[in-house]
Amino acid sequence: MDREQARKRIEQLSLELEAHNHRYYVLAAPVISDQEFDRTLKELEALEREWPEFASANSPTQRVGGDITKEFATVAHRFPMLSLSNSYSRQEVADFVARVEKEIGTTMYVMELKYDGVAISLSYKDGELVRGVTRGDGEKGDDITANVRTVGAIPLKLRGDFPNEFEARGEILFMRAQFDKLNAERAKQGLELYANPRNTAAGSLKQQDPKDVARRGLDNFIYTLQGDRLPTRSHFENMRAAHTWGFKTPDPERRFIERTDNVEGIMAFIEHWGQARHGLEMDIDGIVIKVDDLRIQEELGTTAKSPRWAIAYKFQAEQAVTRLNEVTYQVGRTGAITPVANLEPVLLAGTTVKRASLHNADQIAKLDLHIGDHVKVEKGGEIIPKIVGVELDRREAGATHVIFPHRCPECGTDLVRYEGEAQHYCPNEHACPPQIVGRIEHFVGRKMMAIDGLGGGTVAELVREGLIHDVADLYELDKEQLLRLGKGWGEKSAAQLIDGIEASKSIPFEQVLFAIGIRHVGETVAKKIARSVGSMDKLARMQLLELVGIDEVGTVIAQSIIDFFAVQGNRDIVDRLKARGLRMEVEASAAGPVGDKLKGLTFVVSGVFRNFSRDGVKEAIERNGGKVSGSISSKTSFVLAGADMGPAKRTKAEELKVKVIDEDEFTRMINE
Ligand code: IVH
Repeated sequence: MDREQARKRIEQLSLELEAHNHRYYVLAAPVISDQEFDRTLKELEALEREWPEFASANSPTQRVGGDITKEFATVAHRFPMLSLSNSYSRQEVADFVARVEKEIGTTMYVMELKYDGVAISLSYKDGELVRGVTRGDGEKGDDITANVRTVGAIPLKLRGDFPNEFEARGEILFMRAQFDKLNAERAKQGLELYANPRNTAAGSLKQQDPKDVARRGLDNFIYTLQGDRLPTRSHFENMRAAHTWGFKTPDPERRFIERTDNVEGIMAFIEHWGQARHGLEMDIDGIVIKVDDLRIQEELGTTAKSPRWAIAYKFQAEQAVTRLNEVTYQVGRTGAITPVANLEPVLLAGTTVKRASLHNADQIAKLDLHIGDHVKVEKGGEIIPKIVGVELDRREAGATHVIFPHRCPECGTDLVRYEGEAQHYCPNEHACPPQIVGRIEHFVGRKMMAIDGLGGGTVAELVREGLIHDVADLYELDKEQLLRLGKGWGEKSAAQLIDGIEASKSIPFEQVLFAIGIRHVGETVAKKIARSVGSMDKLARMQLLELVGIDEVGTVIAQSIIDFFAVQGNRDIVDRLKARGLRMEVEASAAGPVGDKLKGLTFVVSGVFRNFSRDGVKEAIERNGGKVSGSISSKTSFVLAGADMGPAKRTKAEELKVKVIDEDEFTRMINE
């Protein structure tokens, strides 16, 4: 294939993939299989690797995750992102309409759903997504463009007749099904569940690695356009137009958006969604009512914070009253004790509720709970409902107080409560069954030792049967032991598990360090520590002052590492894992030399490279003692420019007199 053919093929594949994307994410009507889509995407990826000069920032390949962002740059909004004034009663909505009518007479109103997600402002220029910025303080927000590109419902390139410059604003959110799927995966890995879709969406968008964002599967709805040349002066019509450009906009056929010129029409919409919202595929927390005509919007203007042409009607969090039958106590992987209220089943917001979270001992004391109490349960955004009050007048004489236990309900050890923490803990780390199981489940998780065949209760079974007590025991298991268990264990499943355990011995040290479960040492920190320290032996011998010298390690993490290695039992487990052949040192990788040639230098990396992957080039910088930063500032030593570096970055580098180097020059620097 020659250069011109490559350019054409890349262009054609990009268009095809983007069209399939639109059909899948916006229209929910795919015409090809996932496999076919992946095959085409792979072809495009390969071509872009070979011809990086034709790989654009809005290529469909960026949807699976582009450059890692170290720090999100702060960007000023061209039009401030206002908030809506809230109302909780129909009277307030009627007052709003009366106010508008008094000022301008009868007019059209648009009613739409108030999505419960994270606001985003998307800038488009000549039909291409150029920037995605969070709301921030309304005046300026974080530039999270690389993460936004992974959201399938957000078009990277527009179709049809769009203005050449405008902003689309909307909400990034999780569909409930996707959120449940994420939590099911987390449950399988023994990880703590995400509390609610909104916070998880917000947290997801702040991930530094867009690949992690892509994996979460976020969604988006657009609710307004901003710009000097919008197609019509009707908000309703503009939403329709935006749909034809490729955006996911509210569907009039499903009554996601409606128009009326009277207050009855508005009330009917509120009435409808007050019930129907429970059957929606995503969370909404109210209804938004807007004046349709953009000129009238302008005439009505805004207050300091919110427009005078719109109002939000918020649904009350739904409550139900039911009987508290019992309080039980769960022991987590870290030994944290969580009280759970077991309730007489009651229907609430479309689901039957049997349990509610009580958080901690203080919460129980505050509610002054008694067994048999009639309690008010509320379902806000959280998946687990909470108890917000007690109907004292219905308490029976002689009802017993709920008393938080002093001993662990699982192993009987005296509980402890650390200073400044609300939670009680069982300190019996090495012998308390749920803690043992939880730790092993963490160890075998996908991002840790990735041992297949140990999900859904298998770890608990092996612990219960006495085959394993700690993570090192896994490596001493043999097939016959499993077969002797009977109960569903056959030649095939047993062999599979043993193979999986064997295969985990080649998992890199970074992941082993994460897997052994030192408190506060998560995935990212483990990676940093592993690369900076190099081996488990060295880490085990380090002092506090040395540890806090590591990037991203503060005193809490440092102390936690010291505490971990101070325990003989932990040291024994690490020794046994080492003896069984797990990796306890970083690999001298193929990524090139390791050293401190770049010590004290900060690089900003942009574009695509011939001999490095996107992550690889950053790794090469860090392995040679350099630092990578996300945005160019006076502190930047070099901008490392690959093919297709954005012109904005080049201008900025010139402005700040930062030297721009290419891949060859960089390779010389580290090989010198
Ligand atoms: S219009 C000037 N429409 O609610 C007001 N906002 O409190 C512009 N929201 O930050 C917003 N659904 O994130 C509008 N259909 C909708 C909305 C909506 C959710 C959020 C938005 C905004 C907040 C305002």
